[in-house]
Amino acid sequence: MTTKSDGAKVADHWWELAYDRWLASQDVPVHTGHYVQDLRTLERGWWSLRGCPGAVLNLTGHQGVTEAHVLEIPAGQTIPPFRMALEEVIYVAEGQGLTSVWADGHPKVTFEWQKHSLFRIPNNYFYQLSNARGDRPALTVHVSYLPMAMSTNPNPDYFFKNPYVDTSELYGAETNFYSAQAVQRQIIRRDSKTTSTQWYANFFPDLTVWDKLNVYKRAGRLAYNGGVRFPNSAIRTGLMCLPSRRYRIAHRHGPGVTILGIQEAQGFVIMWPEGGDYVVAPWQEGSVFVPPNQWYHMHVNSGAVENRQLRIFPPQPLMNYTAPDPKKYIPFVEEDPWIRKKFEEELAKNGLTSLMPEGAYTDPDFVWDEDWLKED
Ligand SMILES: [Fe+2]
Repeated sequence: MTTKSDGAKVADHWWELAYDRWLASQDVPVHTGHYVQDLRTLERGWWSLRGCPGAVLNLTGHQGVTEAHVLEIPAGQTIPPFRMALEEVIYVAEGQGLTSVWADGHPKVTFEWQKHSLFRIPNNYFYQLSNARGDRPALTVHVSYLPMAMSTNPNPDYFFKNPYVDTSELYGAETNFYSAQAVQRQIIRRDSKTTSTQWYANFFPDLTVWDKLNVYKRAGRLAYNGGVRFPNSAIRTGLMCLPSRRYRIAHRHGPGVTILGIQEAQGFVIMWPEGGDYVVAPWQEGSVFVPPNQWYHMHVNSGAVENRQLRIFPPQPLMNYTAPDPKKYIPFVEEDPWIRKKFEEELAKNGLTSLMPEGAYTDPDFVWDEDWLKED
């Protein structure tokens, strides 16, 4: 048997990610690494695809599942219409403006947003972003499943030149698709008796004032969380609020969870592969981190105010929920003492002390006080 090459470049989209190949063809700055301290100050550059300055975050933990990018809408301007045959979640990191959404031959639906708004663009609808301020740029953060989708179909034209739109999504409902009024629904989990409150809407005006969060107590992962969900969407989002001077135990799961700091905060994140070195990332408003596949990670609030985060999850099968993992969590009693020491050192820099109960570190059967989370 003989082999020969005709010199043509062969793309192996299975091994070499189609998304990475496509991204290499784009003229936008791409930021890599494990985290970004403040996405608002990332270097941005002209992105021809979008007709505005932008910056792509292709972080280690995105791992071919999800993508995130920042767009700058210059002061007083409207950027060109865009559409993609995948839904997008958009968070407003800075500024005030308008979004118009439409399908060909149908009326535009327009709504106003501000800093800390969150909204969804349904699959393949045209949308156009305008900056309502004449004196400063607006910054939007976009998250989608484009890398994973390109792993199943590597042709970019399928996503950027696809004519199909399900018009019933935007135009079929009796109420305004982008109504800011959320619908509260109780969800009973399949394998637990706890219920959680989910808030369904396609537009959330300000995530920092969103209340009705649940106390999230499982396995000492003490924090408040809340479902902020888009109806009929494949993309799951949620809020997590970590009270001041406290932290959650380390845990691990699958890749692609984009976690974004949406409120002024002081703290840090620690992440590491089992048996590997720690990566310590500072945490503040505008910080982003994406825990790599099965890396332990923990959120530490060493400041005086609540630490509020938006989490945008990958498709559910990728979270590894179905894979039994006896070491999914590291209880406080088994924690590396360096972590507590680091936490207390960072608190001291802010003139603060820990609110973590001593017994949690020494007693495997430690029972948490119900009111512990409420303490300031
Ligand atoms: Fe996590």
